[in-house]
Amino acid sequence: MSTARTPPAHVAIIMDGNGRWAQQHLRPRAFGHKAGRVAVDRVVTACAKVGVKTLSLYAFSTENWRRPPHEVKILMELIETALREEAEKMRKNDIRLRVLGDRTPLSASLCNAIDEAEALTADGTRMNVVLAINYSGQWALCETARRLAQAVARGELQADTINESDFAAHRPMPDLPPVDLLIRSSGEMRLSNFHLWELAYAELWFTDVLWPDFGEAQLDAAFAAYHHRDRRFGALSHT
Ligand code: FPP
Repeated sequence: MSTARTPPAHVAIIMDGNGRWAQQHLRPRAFGHKAGRVAVDRVVTACAKVGVKTLSLYAFSTENWRRPPHEVKILMELIETALREEAEKMRKNDIRLRVLGDRTPLSASLCNAIDEAEALTADGTRMNVVLAINYSGQWALCETARRLAQAVARGELQADTINESDFAAHRPMPDLPPVDLLIRSSGEMRLSNFHLWELAYAELWFTDVLWPDFGEAQLDAAFAAYHHRDRRFGALSHT
């Protein structure tokens, strides 16, 4: 993979297309999700190698509960197994793993795997991997609003002076940086309720490649496109 230029600091990925990939291979959807997990490994390794500082992966959205119970169970088990199997490798590679999302409806054993993986990798400084599980951008915005309201009720904040920094500081993961590059696989061009606050000035990059086939070639292409974007953040171009 090309390492010539500084990569985007925060890369967020909507990993889409596992089901269609499985269908193309005449296999059950679970086969696609398992192949999707292998792609996650590839992408974590590649991003750490080139110096990405934060990698956010949308593993399970609050809307994914609408899938058949059998598929939800498979996804939850796959995520739990991945957490248990990958945490030690991440620790060795100096990678910190954190899970973002509402843990209330998650099983005790998945919560336990999350707690263990987070504790094991807590000292990682090379790259942050943020795994979004039972997450949606709207959930994060509502959670932030609740926290702000509680801070106002406690007298710590004045409602009429709440600004963007106060808002950012009350998010479920207050130190989550703005997304620089959002990648979505499988040809769909939607945000699907991912990091709504953090995506404000993200560059968007879409590929038709299905998630299980995603790898270094696609990351290279995404980063190359990113480096050609003129990021003005509402100001004027330097050129
Ligand atoms: C979208 O494909 C993918 C998901 C809803 C789940 C993402 C999960 C993984 C990549 C597996 C493992 C994850 C980790 C973090 C170990 P889809 O099922 O919507 O595909 P389709 O649109 O083709 O049906």
